[in-house]
Amino acid sequence: MAERVVIDPITRIEGHLRIELEADAGKITDAWSETTQFRGLEEIVTGRDPRDVWAFVQRICGVCTSVHAIASISAVENAIGSVPPPQARLIRDMVLASQEVQDHVIHFYHLHALDFVNVAAAAGADPAAAVDFARQIGSTWRGNTIERMTEVRDTVEAIVSSGQLSIFTGGYWDHPDYRLPPEANLMAVAHYLDALEFQRSMIRIGTVFGGKNPHPNFLVGGMACTIDQERSESINQVQVDDIKKWIAESVDFVRSCYVPDALAIAGVYKDYFDIGAAQPNFFAVGMAGATFAGNPADTPVENAHTEVEAGVILDGDYSRVHPFDPSKIAEWVSSAWYSYSGGDVGLTPDVGETTVDYTGPKPPYEWLADNREYTWCKAPRYDGKPIQVGPVARVLLAYLRGHERTVEIVDDAVAKLGIEIAQLNSTAGRTLARAVECLTSVEILAERTFPEFVDRLKKGDIEVFDATKWEPSSWPSECAGRSFVEVARGNLSHWVRIKSGKVSHYQAVVPTTWLAGGRDAEGQVGPYEASLAGDGQHPLVDPAQPLEPLRTVHSFDPCMSCAVHVLDPDGRDLAAVTS
Ligand code: CA
Ligand code: NI
Repeated sequence: MAERVVIDPITRIEGHLRIELEADAGKITDAWSETTQFRGLEEIVTGRDPRDVWAFVQRICGVCTSVHAIASISAVENAIGSVPPPQARLIRDMVLASQEVQDHVIHFYHLHALDFVNVAAAAGADPAAAVDFARQIGSTWRGNTIERMTEVRDTVEAIVSSGQLSIFTGGYWDHPDYRLPPEANLMAVAHYLDALEFQRSMIRIGTVFGGKNPHPNFLVGGMACTIDQERSESINQVQVDDIKKWIAESVDFVRSCYVPDALAIAGVYKDYFDIGAAQPNFFAVGMAGATFAGNPADTPVENAHTEVEAGVILDGDYSRVHPFDPSKIAEWVSSAWYSYSGGDVGLTPDVGETTVDYTGPKPPYEWLADNREYTWCKAPRYDGKPIQVGPVARVLLAYLRGHERTVEIVDDAVAKLGIEIAQLNSTAGRTLARAVECLTSVEILAERTFPEFVDRLKKGDIEVFDATKWEPSSWPSECAGRSFVEVARGNLSHWVRIKSGKVSHYQAVVPTTWLAGGRDAEGQVGPYEASLAGDGQHPLVDPAQPLEPLRTVHSFDPCMSCAVHVLDPDGRDLAAVTS
């Protein structure tokens, strides 16, 4: 007899996500991904000056801030024919890279690791054994000292014995499937705390170029910062030296701490390479940070990541990559609380509609999944198929495209773990892929993007804004544009139409929407749902402590604020349905 399990809210994510499950004999038999938070910003920009839109859509999310702004200015530039100078593009690349690296580190240590690392069990650990464990897994992180491990152990002991677990309250610390030895738990908790420090300095790069964080400043046609060696309020040598130092620290942290930790944890939980597979369809427009606007068939990638072309992997066939065709993207609202004027069809984002149609029960409710509609998240499909975006899609694409460094890191990891490439489509695979691309991203930032920026500076190139297309009088009376950006959680696209100098239509297709969306008109489930219930084998040992599904959902790095980014066109407050 199937048992119904509700996890609401899913913790350690951005925003509100509810998962309803049916389970039988310790296995998940069905799953529904439910976004119960309604919010958003797309409609608010209609009728506005397209040059202002980035500032509004950046507020789609408080975590993925700069990425929406960059997607927006790129789409608007694509529509009006504006071309930012090379230095502005390099600055955007650095901002994207710092955001992505910070995001991946936060995800691994602060949002996901505690699914595998038992904080409470670190209390009894031997600091010397923790240092030994770090050495064994190849971690050369400078924090691996007996003094540091002792300090962290004493802190954890004090927290545990106080009975007030603070931020660690609510964890399933009694769950039998925490497998790490005490010294590994201690090492991981120490790195968790070190990562808190690290992420703060990493995001400073975006703060320097954007003036503040979160929500840095951007500009259609370039960047809003000025470069001037003579002025303290401009980007000058002091900041360039700081950025160089922060990038070096990032390379060190990712290489010596994050990657070895991710490999070690994946090795202990190796069965999770056979758990949590979603549909084996993937798409990405390049490596992390890849940005381009327009049609991938005739528009070159606009940044440093030119070596991996956009592509699509379908039906688990890892022997070939299909060309990416944006016209094959459509969003369905069959299971979502919206309606389309044309009925239950898929709409391409350039003509997408956002009409609220809440048909769910009045809260509080116990079970949503008996209704055909159960979420605020649309269901995007590519060529009619549910598809995975994100680090795993990008790493698979880069691997199949033969990107040398990716091939090297992946082959090494796959050999160490004794897994097949196809097993990257799994809970552990998504987490491993995130670490792999964090390393390639930080290396590209250190070895290519930043040095190129500095080289240009040395040659006197301080141009960060092109004013040719600034005035609306220089634009066509009607135009449309779009941009694709590979951000931390996956492919982000913004689609804009402009009429007489104002936005007439705007849509964003966000990574978490691709992944968290529900069933479409054909009844095909979304990737979260497939990962939990696709094969009927996903474990759920104790419905009162649903640790295993939490591991799988967290492996996607959900960002629900991004997923549900639409706004009631009348601006009505719909808070009642979210309470
Ligand atoms: Ca609907
Ligand atoms: Ni977000």
